[in-house]
Amino acid sequence: MIQSKLKGFTIIYTTIHLIHIFAVFIYGGFLIVDNLFLVKMKKTLSEEETALAREAIMVEVRKVVPYALLIAVVSGLYLISQVFGEVGEDGLSSFQTLLLIKAFFGLWLGIRGFNQLFFKINPWLFKSHRFPFTLVIIIIFLSQLMWNVD
Ligand code: HEM
Repeated sequence: MIQSKLKGFTIIYTTIHLIHIFAVFIYGGFLIVDNLFLVKMKKTLSEEETALAREAIMVEVRKVVPYALLIAVVSGLYLISQVFGEVGEDGLSSFQTLLLIKAFFGLWLGIRGFNQLFFKINPWLFKSHRFPFTLVIIIIFLSQLMWNVD
């Protein structure tokens, strides 16, 4: 009985974990392509051609990438609710601290994306795509590092 419950939990957790990873792939993947390659279009195209080419790509990006970010955040909230655990007597563990920092950055990106998508509010504080790109790289580092502390 206990074993089958545990198995059920593992299947749900693994599925949501996979959804998280794929959503992150799509969101982070776009930021990587944008920051490493699309910004270079102006080297070979004129200003007008760059604007046209960029818009042709962005039309499709807007249909997918913002939703991938929202899915990353929602699935992340489920994952954190399962792995955060109790806070010990001597405060947060290193794992919990790094996970909280990771979740904070992820939520920041999520709120930013949500405002853009539903309220057409352009990002406060940082406008370029380099900022979310940098945060994604930091988040990915933290997501691996957190399991290797404590
Ligand atoms: C754009 C935002 C986010 C990115 C790029 C991101 C990225 C990642 C990556 C790469 C992993 C590692 C997966 C693996 O190695 O198996 C991960 C795991 C995790 N993420 Fe996120 N994440 C984001 C948002 C969030 C948010 C908002 C939360 C919580 C509120 C969250 C909670 C978690 C948890 C708890 C894990 C550990 C799952 C596990 O290994 O069992 N994530 N995330």
